[in-house]
Amino acid sequence: MDYKQTVVEALAKALDGQLTADEIAAKLERPKTSDKGDMAFPTFTLAKVLHQAPQQIAQDLADKLETTDFEKVEVVGPYLNFFFDKGSYSEATLQTVLTDGASYGQNEDGQGGNVPIDMSSPNIAKPMSMGHLRSTVIGNSIAEILTKNGYHPIKDNHLGDWGTQFGKLITAYKLWGNEADVKADPINKLVEYYIRFHKEDVEKPELDDIAREWFKKLEDGDEEAHRLWKWFREASLQEFNDVYDELGVKFDTYNGEAFYNDKLEEVVQILKDKHLLVESQGAQVVDLSKYDLNPALILKSDGASLYITRDIATALYRDRTYAPAKNLYVVGSEQTYYFKQLKAVLKEMGVKSADNLQHVPFGLITVDGKKLSTRSGRIILLAKVLEESVKLAAEEINEKNPDLANKQAVAQQVGVGAIVFGDLKNERTNNIDFVLADQLKFEGETGPYVQYAHARAESMLRKAANVDVQPAGNQITDPEAWDTIKTLADFPAIVKMACKELEPSVVAKYAIRLAKTFNKYYAHSKILTEDAELSARLALVKAVSTVLKEALRLLGVQAPDEM
Ligand code: ARG
Repeated sequence: MDYKQTVVEALAKALDGQLTADEIAAKLERPKTSDKGDMAFPTFTLAKVLHQAPQQIAQDLADKLETTDFEKVEVVGPYLNFFFDKGSYSEATLQTVLTDGASYGQNEDGQGGNVPIDMSSPNIAKPMSMGHLRSTVIGNSIAEILTKNGYHPIKDNHLGDWGTQFGKLITAYKLWGNEADVKADPINKLVEYYIRFHKEDVEKPELDDIAREWFKKLEDGDEEAHRLWKWFREASLQEFNDVYDELGVKFDTYNGEAFYNDKLEEVVQILKDKHLLVESQGAQVVDLSKYDLNPALILKSDGASLYITRDIATALYRDRTYAPAKNLYVVGSEQTYYFKQLKAVLKEMGVKSADNLQHVPFGLITVDGKKLSTRSGRIILLAKVLEESVKLAAEEINEKNPDLANKQAVAQQVGVGAIVFGDLKNERTNNIDFVLADQLKFEGETGPYVQYAHARAESMLRKAANVDVQPAGNQITDPEAWDTIKTLADFPAIVKMACKELEPSVVAKYAIRLAKTFNKYYAHSKILTEDAELSARLALVKAVSTVLKEALRLLGVQAPDEM
């Protein structure tokens, strides 16, 4: 039963059209402690409109309310405090969670609409950075959240597998590379060549000319250029896939920049037909001054395409293939200006999804205070961070639960989960400094903390495996249980809010809140005592376990049953 809705309806009736249901819902507050009720309606703003004292309004409303749905309604100064009927509320909430199981909180708002999510999108021949990790885990979680809201996400890895840097890479490989080295350690070797290229071209600018020629050859389909490119791409992708496997992230498509190579001509043609291309120092640009933006460079003077040229083709393709309900790009905030330009060009071209193109930005990430950069050669490999995290998790588990079966598998789930959760609990636009050891603590606002609450619930259920689990709510009386039940009831609204804001942190913060309330309950009550309330308490434990697991799933974090 949706009590907030019940409060809104009761108030709407009593207010007789003075406020809309939405206005009432926006004003409702949740008292900090349950003794002040479960929902409060402040009357201050009404006082201005009705020219009456707020206390008087609260009292009048209380008199007009039909209170049968609530345990009681109290007037405290300018507030109207609603106390829910604990018995029926608990029973209804727990019953719903237990019946729905993992689909608790599912809604169909999205009506099956397609939502391409441009995510992860690392660059070939470079290590995947922590920034790409953010895009991967944020995109993955947003996809789960969208599905939970009835959308149909399409996770597309828009690999950076095309562009002038491949001219540089081929040049470098032909000068200094050898096949056996690249085969043994692809990305590291390729990065080494790339870094060397950038060092040497300072003194030998002719290297840039050679690189430009190689890229031109690549775009024109030259056999050797294509063969090398394909090899670099496959070798890199193999390493990326190791990381994706570890994170448990899957993609629907890997349509990287190269996929659009044969679709660029049409882009240029449309731009020409619409008289949008102008020449500027030999290059072709789209003027965006009416958007207060710098011109977008579409073709270089040698006719080579650019990042944006390929992105225009991408948007056009997604538009035609998916008729997207939303059109998301999970890419770092440093590309905000770029996406404004992209959107403006698409608008000028009359591409439909220009309007719902949404850049979903996120902040910078540093690890233990260190910035990440490829060109300078100071690289923190994502794979290394994951490895380190799993190692730390294994140590922690060895200490806490040395007899645990499948220790290594659990360490994997906890170590990887700690990183994913540690990222997603932050509002995505925040910059974060990742201190690995902090994310792995079993106490505090961490992934392992939430996982541990879930494992603890599962352990209780195992111990009481022979007891019936029955949500006869009117039997659970203590206030900690009541807080936990109310938190459980919030989940469907959390699912909606996370979707509206495209913000996994809404789910992560909720998971922490649920784990905390549950731990408080656990600390105060002897849950497994054999008395008349036992099966009701177990129903609560079961519901908590279900919702914690589902919240973690929405974040892409596993929930081991024991740890
Ligand atoms: N490969 C790019 C980078 O690493 C990100 C691509 C984002 N997606 C896009 N459609 N532009 O910076």
